[in-house]
Amino acid sequence: MFELPKLNYKYNALEPYIDEETMRIHHSKHHQAYTDNFNKAIGETEESAEDIIADIDEISEDKRTAVRNNGGGYINHKLFFSLLKKDVECRGEILRAINKKFGSFDKFKEEFGNAAKTQFGSGWAWLVVDEGELKIVKTSNQDSPLSDGKKPILCIDVWEHSYYLKYQNRRPEYIENFFHVINWNKVNELFLEK
Ligand SMILES: [Fe+2]
Repeated sequence: MFELPKLNYKYNALEPYIDEETMRIHHSKHHQAYTDNFNKAIGETEESAEDIIADIDEISEDKRTAVRNNGGGYINHKLFFSLLKKDVECRGEILRAINKKFGSFDKFKEEFGNAAKTQFGSGWAWLVVDEGELKIVKTSNQDSPLSDGKKPILCIDVWEHSYYLKYQNRRPEYIENFFHVINWNKVNELFLEK
């Protein structure tokens, strides 16, 4: 059985950029629902959730959509919530790699922000490592880059449930403020694991 991962910070820790009520509902209701529905869909298993999603084609067809949506929701939110912390500077290896790939941090920010803004409907924008290279990708619904063989190291949830209470239809403002709550130390750790 998969369990809702605990947050190592309080629901109000990301104020004013992400409000307490959004965090509470997003974690205790949405992430909980993905967790419960993933358990229902997958049943007993020894595999990690990440491995299941990476090998989604191995799941029998009758269960595949439910596992993809709810297992994806489970691991995507697990990563997302683990990457949030206020006012952490981007530095170290990840900053060097970003500068090398995108030209500058500002250019990266613009490209990542554009991916998040232009994801039509519900989904995610990602910074991934793909064959040793940094790339920005988007996915719809709860699809994970893991299913395409890419390792996600940063993600932004652009489902309306992640910002609507505070930002309503102002997704670009949510995205701009999201840059204040990225735990770059954690992104750097994931990058170095590659
Ligand atoms: Fe979400």
